[in-house]
Amino acid sequence: MKEGHPKKLVMFSVWGLPRFAAYSFILALVYALGFITSFTGKSKSPENTTQVPPQFLESDLVRFRTKCSDPVPSTLVRQTILDKVYNGSSPYHGFPPSHTLGLLKPKRIKGWGSYGAVFENLVRRVKPRIIIEVGTFLGASAIHMADLSCDLGLKTQVICIDDFRGWPGFRERFKDISMVNGDVMLLHQFMQNVVYLNLTEQILPLPFSTSSALVKLCEWGVMGDLIEVDAGHDFHSAWSDINMAYALLRPGGVIFGHDYFTSADDRGVRRAVDLFARRKGLFVGTDGQHWVIG
Ligand SMILES: C[S@@+](CC[C@H](N)C(=O)[O-])C[C@H]1O[C@@H](n2cnc3c(N)ncnc32)[C@H](O)[C@@H]1O
Repeated sequence: MKEGHPKKLVMFSVWGLPRFAAYSFILALVYALGFITSFTGKSKSPENTTQVPPQFLESDLVRFRTKCSDPVPSTLVRQTILDKVYNGSSPYHGFPPSHTLGLLKPKRIKGWGSYGAVFENLVRRVKPRIIIEVGTFLGASAIHMADLSCDLGLKTQVICIDDFRGWPGFRERFKDISMVNGDVMLLHQFMQNVVYLNLTEQILPLPFSTSSALVKLCEWGVMGDLIEVDAGHDFHSAWSDINMAYALLRPGGVIFGHDYFTSADDRGVRRAVDLFARRKGLFVGTDGQHWVIG
């Protein structure tokens, strides 16, 4: 009987409080418990463990590989790409394949600013052994650079990175480019142009997305003396292409690209080029519609 007595006292001291104070006490207790439970629960939920603090996200946007594998000698670049991409033999062997017969024109070339003075100026200045072109289409600028190099007596290899898909809707302007089961014949027509002009030893296509091809060239140590960037013209494409391509530039080389001055003005290529140059402390020159760094 003696033990029950203090218990009663405690009960009395809680429930004996004025009603308002008792409710407040219980409310505070429930709130505190709820807070602790929800806090512990959140830190364990999967959606919260994947949240990345903003500062990491921002640094990811400017983090590009800046060092590639040891450079392959220029003389071995062509064979390196043939080995890695084409089972060691030229993609021009046996060209054109039978399913494209009758679908290709002997020669069909169209470019944009592809014959500007900048090409001759740079080929003369740099005397490139390896040119990497990021964005080729039907090969107008690649063929022009190969011709200029031949005229100077250089043994230049031009590597053309392009997925050869053009862009959504490009066929509205290029109805004459054939399509087979949804596959546009851009790669084949480009290769046909190269074959027609007898430049198969000088020009090699790399028919992949720009980023996947640039990653691999960096991994293989394939570097360029002259790099032209002329693929996607929206800010994010240009930004990524320029940063990734710059890692492939040999010391003393030049990187350049088209459409520095367009209606996209400070939102597309120009914004990407200027931001890149500012971050690296580089000077951007211009030559016609082209930007030039180096
Ligand atoms: C403006 S055209 C290149 C013109 C060429 N430099 C000339 O002057 O003759 C752009 C090319 O970039 C290619 N392209 C755009 N974005 C690409 C990407 N992410 N990966 C691969 N190719 C891309 C398109 O297929 C198109 O052929």
